[in-house]
Amino acid sequence: MPENINPQIAQKAEALRKALHRHNYRYYVLDDPEISDAEYDRMMQELKQLEENYPQLASPDSPTARVGAPPLEKFDTVAHTVPMLSLDNGFNDEDILDFDRRVKRNLDKQSNILYTAEPKMDGVAVELIYENGKLLTASTRGDGLTGEVITANVKTINAVPLVMQTDSPSPIPSRLEIRGEVFIGLDAFRKFNEERIEQELPPFANPRNAAAGSLRQLHSKITATRPLEIFFYGIGIVEDLAFESHWELLKSLKNWGFRINPFIRPTIRIKEVLNYYRELSEKRHQLPYDIDGIVVKVDDISLQQRLGATSRSPRWAVAYKFKAIQETTALEAIEVQVGRTGVLTPVAQLKPVSVGGVMVSRATLHNEDEIEKKDIRIGDKVLVQRAGDVIPEIVKVIASKRDGSETQFKMPKSCPVCDSPVIRMAGESATRCINSSCSAQLKERIKHFTSKRAFDIDGLGDKLVDQLVDENLLSSFADIFSLDEEIIKNLERMGAKSAANLVNAIEQSKSIVFARFLYALGIRHAGEHVSALLGDHFPDLHTLMNCSREELEAVEGIGPIVADSIASFFKQERNQRIIRLILDCGVKLETASRKKTGKLKDKVFVLTGTLESITRSQAKELIKAASGKVSGSVSGNTDYLVAGESPGSKLNKAKELGVAVIDEAGFKELFG
Ligand code: IVH
Repeated sequence: MPENINPQIAQKAEALRKALHRHNYRYYVLDDPEISDAEYDRMMQELKQLEENYPQLASPDSPTARVGAPPLEKFDTVAHTVPMLSLDNGFNDEDILDFDRRVKRNLDKQSNILYTAEPKMDGVAVELIYENGKLLTASTRGDGLTGEVITANVKTINAVPLVMQTDSPSPIPSRLEIRGEVFIGLDAFRKFNEERIEQELPPFANPRNAAAGSLRQLHSKITATRPLEIFFYGIGIVEDLAFESHWELLKSLKNWGFRINPFIRPTIRIKEVLNYYRELSEKRHQLPYDIDGIVVKVDDISLQQRLGATSRSPRWAVAYKFKAIQETTALEAIEVQVGRTGVLTPVAQLKPVSVGGVMVSRATLHNEDEIEKKDIRIGDKVLVQRAGDVIPEIVKVIASKRDGSETQFKMPKSCPVCDSPVIRMAGESATRCINSSCSAQLKERIKHFTSKRAFDIDGLGDKLVDQLVDENLLSSFADIFSLDEEIIKNLERMGAKSAANLVNAIEQSKSIVFARFLYALGIRHAGEHVSALLGDHFPDLHTLMNCSREELEAVEGIGPIVADSIASFFKQERNQRIIRLILDCGVKLETASRKKTGKLKDKVFVLTGTLESITRSQAKELIKAASGKVSGSVSGNTDYLVAGESPGSKLNKAKELGVAVIDEAGFKELFG
């Protein structure tokens, strides 16, 4: 116990840590949380407070120690006790049957071999070392013999246990070298890339590159902002214990708190392995992460040892890879789009082709340099793939199919929308339309302003924005707030009801959290993350608008380029006027100080049944004002179900999922 500390306080901190580790385990490993996210956050907050008040309590394996450590100059290296080998690949059933025959031959014609088959995660291999149940170091695979030490980065992954579960049926070994794959889920990857594009950072080509880049950050605070996940699949060594089979080992790993892929199929014969491959080939498109095949492992560990390994790969395992999701098609034309910041993006118009079951007819070509690098010409036959199975991209041109009719692409000299001249600055790959009143830019800026993570105006979709701008009904952000219901009603595809709903949604949006407001403005380099930092740091808009570049740079997480961009944005009179006009429309900012105390920020509420003393829309307003969210249906993401009279089926669902249920009195208490 740390010195000079009231034992009760030390015990309290220890109890909180233990409970948080356990809830983490229930959430990430068992997928069966016992408490709501709100309750978890509350406990975490309490522990943070204790550790802040009593710094002697700090400990490297506290659940609060995931936020990242001071930056490194470079990574240390470490030799793996047992080399991290690769796997041989098979590409068809015959390759796998060959593998099975080889295994049996090497085991003196033994038959009845049982295999455990697993999804092959498309991520980055890591090794973690635990001593007496505590995470000591984490490293990359490197060249298989020596890896880089990335402990601080790996610790930021919530699903990585900082301490092993001690109440597990398997005793804790004195040393465990465990291996797994770090990855980023597809939804998180999409969101993360969108955010990068907004900040004018180059997007990652696929989730694997994003995971690899995030793990190799010298600044673990950056890693902490990346949505990394992990599945464990094996070990290097374990001391004190011996396992008979791979499946037994995986079960113990799970009991110790390590996340294991739920789709692993244990102890099956080779025929069933082939069926499993087919099943997973179909299921892979519904999975929330990328897999690139299956891994087939001899289950019996004594047989694994008898089979041994070559210098490259074990003889007891093989990867059966999925077919690449690539197709060839014709590039019919290149269209140039103008984005919110005026950047011209060439987009390939493809002859529609099904790539892994999804029709693809367009692919971004990023910029002029990219087209030149890949020597892409209009009329080419091209190989397309869904990168990370998400965004279609052109892998390469099939030059042998050219017949001479293909034409070179030239970036237009003027904006394809407003016809103003375009420029390309030295050292930049982007070409821009610099006319800030270009209608394409205006449309995109307004779409951004009203989008879900900004003003979140329901009913003001992309088509309607295009229409309103084209008909000169919208020419600035402030115009949104004075849109006339009568005029909207008479627009194409609109009617009295949708017009009334829209006007109502616009009215509701006027109360907005400070950070969201900043994000909505679309300041260069200020995406959601930077806006949140600013919103947390500055007490109000006025202070932010008047602060210097140096003061901005002093904000943790904000570098010189971002600081420069923000300071010069607020310095421009034009932008000051735009902001004034928005505020004059009655937009109210919920400032940082209010938000910080807002324990209900981002909490998801579902309403059911009849409330007595307030209407549903009043309840929704209260939730929104506290920066909470309202959802129509109960799911694992729900934090509170507010149940009035005659609640119906949502109540059962909430109980099933362990969602906190509150009645009207509880609701009132929560909202003061
Ligand atoms: S077992 C001795 N199981 O695939 C071989 N590997 O090509 C140990 N991988 O470096 C590997 N999912 O990064 C194994 N379920 C799984 C896997 C898996 C992904 C990766 C791993 C390894 C690479 C080998």
